[in-house]
Amino acid sequence: LDTNTMSRPKVVIARHLGPDVMPLFNRPDLDVVTWHSETEACSRKWLLENICGAAGVLVMLGDGKVDAEFLDTAGPNLRVVSTMSVGYEHINLKELAQRNVKLGYTPDVLTDAVADVSIMLALMAGRNARETTTIWPNCPWSPFQFCGPQLSANWIHQTRTAGFIGFGRIAQATLARLIPFGFTHCLYSGNPGSAPNTARDAELARTHKLQSVRRVTLDELARGSDVVFVLAPSSPDTRHIVNEGFLKQMKKTAVLVNTARGTLVDSDALAKALREGWLWGAGIDVVEGEPNVTTEHPLVKEPRCAVLPHIGSATTETRLGMATMAAKNLIAGVLDGEMPAELNL
Ligand code: DGY
Repeated sequence: LDTNTMSRPKVVIARHLGPDVMPLFNRPDLDVVTWHSETEACSRKWLLENICGAAGVLVMLGDGKVDAEFLDTAGPNLRVVSTMSVGYEHINLKELAQRNVKLGYTPDVLTDAVADVSIMLALMAGRNARETTTIWPNCPWSPFQFCGPQLSANWIHQTRTAGFIGFGRIAQATLARLIPFGFTHCLYSGNPGSAPNTARDAELARTHKLQSVRRVTLDELARGSDVVFVLAPSSPDTRHIVNEGFLKQMKKTAVLVNTARGTLVDSDALAKALREGWLWGAGIDVVEGEPNVTTEHPLVKEPRCAVLPHIGSATTETRLGMATMAAKNLIAGVLDGEMPAELNL
């Protein structure tokens, strides 16, 4: 019997994190169990068999729920769950809190990468990227074919308004990227429970030389924006926040970008809106129903919708940052150190 192993806390890593991050776990004070693959998720069966008695578990966003079954199976030794994501809708926070289990997550490190992709999708949506890349090279140059609305301010539209559903770190980083495009106004919808932050808004307007930054109703945001960015967290309150009523009020030349979660947008309503021209186009990095989405999904079939496979944070630098933070959260949580990012439960 290896008494040394028995006295060390067990940690389970539900995905191999590659040669740059895994060495963080080469420590004499931990008993480490790792799923072998970086690309393939472990099965629920493997996870439940291995987490029994664990003090810490590191999980991914799409690898299943951290729920009562998971926590009961892990048992009373469990001190921390660390997710390699900023979103935590796959984790039952109430069940965690009841058992005094800490949660580590990965805010901030992915802000810039997701803001970059938000801009990319705004451009792709306006410039018909889905259709034009599909038909290439059978598309000879012609004066007005494939023309879409210009994102940047121009001789016809000298003002540009960005609308943000959710105005946290990623939204504000996206706004900063729009300044060189000549954006002049910013509208955003806030969490109804929180007070408007007019001092912050005035400061943002001053820093970015914007004519205005205003918290408005969703209706006002839909009507006034040239591009709408969906960047609020997934919750029962935000489910289908972009619905038929919202889409009907958008400008016909506007585009919608969703880099948050698929559940925030009513897919059938958006597909209908795109087909009927209520807005110009959409760019989405997240699809309602993922990870079980097929090519039959109404938005995946829609030529005016550019679809990416949830790659907002997929730069080498960002994913290394996320994996490192998740590993450090796990180790600190198990060994009573200070976790780099612990969610207040
Ligand atoms: C997250 O971390 O929640 C992101 O969606 C992953 O890209």
